[in-house]
Amino acid sequence: MKRTKVIDALKCTAYDAEICVKGWVRSKRGSKGIFFIALNDGSTIKNIQIVGEDQNFDTDTVKRITTGACISVVGTLVESPAAGQSSEIQAKNIEILGDCDNTYPLQKKGASWEYLRSVAHLRPRTNTFGAILRIRHNMAMAIHTYFHQHGYYYFHSPIITASDCEGAGQMFQVTTKNLYDLKKDENGSIIYDDDFFGKQASLTVSGQLEGELGATALGAIYTFGPTFRAENSNTPRHLAEFWMIEPEIAFMDLDELMDLEEDFIKYCVRWALDNCQDDLEFLNKMVDKGLIERLQGVLKEDFVRLPYTRGIEILQEAVAKGRKFEFPCNWGDDLASEHERYLVEEYFKKPVIMTNYPKKIKAFYMKIDDTKPVFNGQEMEETVQGTDVLFPSIGEIIGGSVREESYDKLLSEIESRNIPMKDMTWYLDTRKYGSCPHAGFGLGFERLILFVTGMQNIRDVIPFPRTPKNAEF
Ligand code: 4AD
Ligand code: MG
Repeated sequence: MKRTKVIDALKCTAYDAEICVKGWVRSKRGSKGIFFIALNDGSTIKNIQIVGEDQNFDTDTVKRITTGACISVVGTLVESPAAGQSSEIQAKNIEILGDCDNTYPLQKKGASWEYLRSVAHLRPRTNTFGAILRIRHNMAMAIHTYFHQHGYYYFHSPIITASDCEGAGQMFQVTTKNLYDLKKDENGSIIYDDDFFGKQASLTVSGQLEGELGATALGAIYTFGPTFRAENSNTPRHLAEFWMIEPEIAFMDLDELMDLEEDFIKYCVRWALDNCQDDLEFLNKMVDKGLIERLQGVLKEDFVRLPYTRGIEILQEAVAKGRKFEFPCNWGDDLASEHERYLVEEYFKKPVIMTNYPKKIKAFYMKIDDTKPVFNGQEMEETVQGTDVLFPSIGEIIGGSVREESYDKLLSEIESRNIPMKDMTWYLDTRKYGSCPHAGFGLGFERLILFVTGMQNIRDVIPFPRTPKNAEF
């Protein structure tokens, strides 16, 4: 008999018809010769209730229906007398597809997040991770749909690359060299000519540079792929392997970039509210009581657009009024997360797009502002048209910028920052041949999922997290 998914069985009103469902036992209880099974097959957060009479089944089969076991049930679909569920199944035949003994690590409810990370190969079977993973899928669909409908082409940037986009030196090397017997020159530097790619290669930290090649040909592109950073940050916001979405658009200016960032995030949040209702309600109840309200709130708010220099003024005004911060916030400093959180969560109480940062704290490719800002009556150093979108409890969710389109200015940045030129000639060609104004951003996929699920730790919104000292499963 053909299997019906639980999500469809629960909606079905063809009562008295015979039906077959398959899935994993979430729980079984019994009384007075009747047993009740909560069965889940991953198609929805909801379980379907299976009711059976002990006398209709052999005792061995009933005994083997344990938490975690995989079973196939054929029975009659009936309207459920129990509150909160539409239909249930009166079992006629139950087949055990896979036994599950009492060493099953997900036996007990209420296991800690830490414990669940240690059984990440099985945690997708819990209610919470099922919900998170279905929402994760939905966000990927939202992203592809948004860009497709807005005329962007999905562009595949390489995963193995020889350039360091962010210039932060946080690359994982890719090599087939014998690490115990490295060929070196007389100065002790490794020679790569006999390596697989004939030069030093790494896993990409960002698809942006190649994305710019796409945008300056196709007009508007986006990438959506894995990115890798060997940054030794053991925080609830950093992964060594994460997924990034990077749109890049020809002829876009700073205001249009901010419009895009805001519209895009709101589209994703709206998609979640429209398409992930059951999972969001579950997370709202079990993980974060303010979740749905916060998601709805973001849709109503206009994001604040805040030049860095004004941000520093606000922070210093707060300090003058006695607000204590651990780190200084002088003009020119990179903001610490406590500063970002103050602006977003205490001062504005809504998402903030910060712009026009000092050049020296941002990447080499950002477009330099024509005028220098004035702070405390004094002219400051050059700023760039970078944007960071700052979210409550997440901090930076998007980093983007208008790109420097002038060949000479870009070259001078590359040289003054000692970026190896030989790796950059192909990139400079975009400015040499028909250069155009353009802009783009990178959204950290897992940071979006953190926001949409209300989860607190980025390790818990990706199936198999990679962090310093951890590459299990
Ligand atoms: O701000 P980032 O470093 O910007 C870039 O890589 C640009 N090339 C993007 C562009 O303009 N096309 O990273 C972009 C976003 C961050 O805002 C953050 O959401 C996420 O990527 N991100 C991380 N997410 C998880 N773990 C990490 N280690 C991350 N590093 C950055
Ligand atoms: Mg950034």
